[in-house]
Amino acid sequence: MCGIVGFVGSEQAAPILLDGLERLEYRGYDSAGIAVISDDKKIIVKKAKGRLNVLRDMINGGKSIAGTIGIGHTRWATHGEPNDINAHPHLSGDGKIAVVHNGIIENYVELRDFLISQGYTFKSETDTEVVAQLIAFYYAECGNALEAVFRVLRRIEGAYALGILCIDEPEHFIAARKDAPLLIGYGEGCNFIASDVTAIIKHTRDVSYMEDGEVAVISADKVQFYNAMEQPIEKAHNTIDWDVSAAEKGGYAHFMLKEIMEQPEAIRKTAFSRIRDNRIVFEDLKFTAEQIKDVSRIFIIACGSSYHVGVVGKYNLERLMRKPVEVCLASEFRYCDPLVDDKSLVIVISQSGETLDTMAALREAKARGAYILSIVNVVGSSIARESDDVLYTWAGPEIAVATTKAYSTQLILLDMLGLYFADALGKVSKDQYDDIIEQILCLPDKMEQMLEDIEDIKHFASNYFNQNSVFFIGRNLDYAMGLEGSLKLKEISYIHSEAYASGELKHGTISLIEDGTLVIALGTYEPLFDKAMSNVVEVQARGADVLALTIENNVAEMKKTVENVISVPETHTILQPSLGVVPLQLFAYYVALLRGCDIDKPRNLAKSVTVE
Ligand code: F6R
Repeated sequence: MCGIVGFVGSEQAAPILLDGLERLEYRGYDSAGIAVISDDKKIIVKKAKGRLNVLRDMINGGKSIAGTIGIGHTRWATHGEPNDINAHPHLSGDGKIAVVHNGIIENYVELRDFLISQGYTFKSETDTEVVAQLIAFYYAECGNALEAVFRVLRRIEGAYALGILCIDEPEHFIAARKDAPLLIGYGEGCNFIASDVTAIIKHTRDVSYMEDGEVAVISADKVQFYNAMEQPIEKAHNTIDWDVSAAEKGGYAHFMLKEIMEQPEAIRKTAFSRIRDNRIVFEDLKFTAEQIKDVSRIFIIACGSSYHVGVVGKYNLERLMRKPVEVCLASEFRYCDPLVDDKSLVIVISQSGETLDTMAALREAKARGAYILSIVNVVGSSIARESDDVLYTWAGPEIAVATTKAYSTQLILLDMLGLYFADALGKVSKDQYDDIIEQILCLPDKMEQMLEDIEDIKHFASNYFNQNSVFFIGRNLDYAMGLEGSLKLKEISYIHSEAYASGELKHGTISLIEDGTLVIALGTYEPLFDKAMSNVVEVQARGADVLALTIENNVAEMKKTVENVISVPETHTILQPSLGVVPLQLFAYYVALLRGCDIDKPRNLAKSVTVE
């Protein structure tokens, strides 16, 4: 959730750290800080509550701190409220050690008590200060920062990505990782650490991903890695295949809008490269089409929007494959003693590949013998590395906290996986198969057509941006899509919103509909269009102001009952949510814009949730 960057080289560290933090700000943004070893051998720590600009102004864009080695952090508070004192980096009481940390140290209270018993005092409420002080404690004993870090790692429990400076060792800094992402970037006469490659992509595309338990000592001309056994190791280099422009706004007002607009291309990259001669080819999959025959049950596990993809997936995969599919919230799955075994296929969905609950659920399923196939956007991420198989969504970096293009690419990949398996099981006819492939190939063009004409959606947003409460109703795939539409709206516009299966309304929620309540009626699922219409009439009878979404063919019919209708191009029924979600994303975006919200960085949220 937080972001880490570190640099050592011959240039001034502070501006480089600030620049890296700016690119990481989407991961957490309630405070930020940097620590630099100054030329006169002091650790200078500057940190401030609020957005990065506050820190940037405080240190004059970095110019007021001279030094060529440093670490930086942008925070999403876990232990202690967001304020200057709890912001990272944390300095040990003797001023010798500075630490930035992502993750949570679970036994920090016990360690803090131990240190207090040794005469240490604490300024902040954070678990990270405990790490800094504990390193200082061992450093005082052994006089070697690496050895002190090894000793600390033997004592701490929990998740961490750490960047550590030691005043007496100004030529290098130390990094350690367990259950929180961290990578090393190799520059020309300089080296970096980062929790996310976007922080350093401007400087290098040559990186190594740290594994759990590994430690690295980073100097300007060398990076020395150690494994969990504390033995020196060599690590492979990876090349990042996208460049800095992919992580910049490119003329758009917000990353979210840019990423909405990038969806057709992202789908082309993700889907078309896996279709050859009108057949799905998963060259990147080890799990064979034959193996699917032995699978008794499929589980789809994810959080948030990725979970919503799973809800669409449950409808589509069951329909195509005729095998039972359960879709589970990762945070629930891990504690429910799940009925997963070696006959289960577990499909894990995650944009970041770092979501802690999803990761824990993956490990739970793996321990019970299931085969893990993950759909992940970030190459080399923890979920990707711990899965038996990975299908990457090639959406490119997603910076806006609210996901759009990752959602769309996850969706198409899951649909394709369902079709691929259904074909292997002999459950789809050739005509059905060909039809779906043909429609997948048309999908990006249809999406582009929608994105070229968004005046209606802007108009509806201007009609409704003052609402306090919104309901999204729909049946079957429309319900699944409504979950995502509702989440988009609430997370970025802060309007209370609920997604309801239309048929469920009269079992309670309809009591909330009153004069003027906005109901977004989703009627793109053709087989149940008539039923959707009767629910529209029901809510209208209670005073609801209805905004409807339906496929082109049904617009005229819908207009007999509803004045405000958004039209969606038609595609194969199972693919319809891929198109239907686009106006919902745009509606949320323009509503949030009119309400003056911080669209790319909504309050209280962070891009990658690496705490439980
Ligand atoms: C919402 C959103 C979140 C994520 C969720 C899972 O717009 O982005 O709900 O979908 O936190 O994240 P990943 O997919 O990275 O595991």
